[in-house]
Amino acid sequence: METFPFGRRAFLSAFLLAALVREARARVPRRETGARRWIDGQQAVAEALAAGRISGLAWALEVERLAAEIDLAELTALVSRARIEPAPGGGTNDPAKRYVRFLDSEGRPRRLAYGAALFDFAPQNVITPHGHRHMVSAHLVVAGAFRVRNFHRVGDEAGAMRLRPTRDYLARRGQVSTMCSERDNVHWFVPQGGPATTFDVVVSGLDAGAPDHVIEAVDPLHARREADGTIVAPVIGFAEASRLYTARV
Ligand SMILES: [Fe+2]
Repeated sequence: METFPFGRRAFLSAFLLAALVREARARVPRRETGARRWIDGQQAVAEALAAGRISGLAWALEVERLAAEIDLAELTALVSRARIEPAPGGGTNDPAKRYVRFLDSEGRPRRLAYGAALFDFAPQNVITPHGHRHMVSAHLVVAGAFRVRNFHRVGDEAGAMRLRPTRDYLARRGQVSTMCSERDNVHWFVPQGGPATTFDVVVSGLDAGAPDHVIEAVDPLHARREADGTIVAPVIGFAEASRLYTARV
């Protein structure tokens, strides 16, 4: 059954979030850059989400607000001073993923409640449509542009997800695309007009007793259309997804 995403919890969370972000900023010395304040703002909301004090939707809305504030040149400079390691290779069309570990003033990796990574897309690379469990994520466009398609995950059926198409837009440098359980749980990224890069923030392990996260590829182009506007899309393997969902789709 579909749940209304903008519940009372999200409403109350807005007040809590404002306080959390104010508190995080108050701890940052004046000499620190806006990008460091951004990292700490992300930490405040990631901790609150992981502790169950705010909803996934409240997290997503705050991450969108933080993205509107960040100076991308400052963030890029900070990332260039971070520890960056290549992630293990994915499927055929996958972008190249690199983990980003921010360092403290002594050069030690910071312990944060969220993971960060860069996704470098060659023009033929695609993040194929997929749904998530036990996690939230945000992709900030730091170079190039993407066609972003989202679907709300209304529910799950045997071997399929019931989805409602929610967004199909061009995300340019500086725009962020968020997903959570309550909104836009399925996402799909195709670079437009050349190579492009996203900077990704992830908070996982959100459900006690469950796996850290579950990601499943889904096939909305071969879905069954329902009278209420939802579609029932088969869950497929990632190899099949890479074959079906090229940059031309
Ligand atoms: Fe994802």
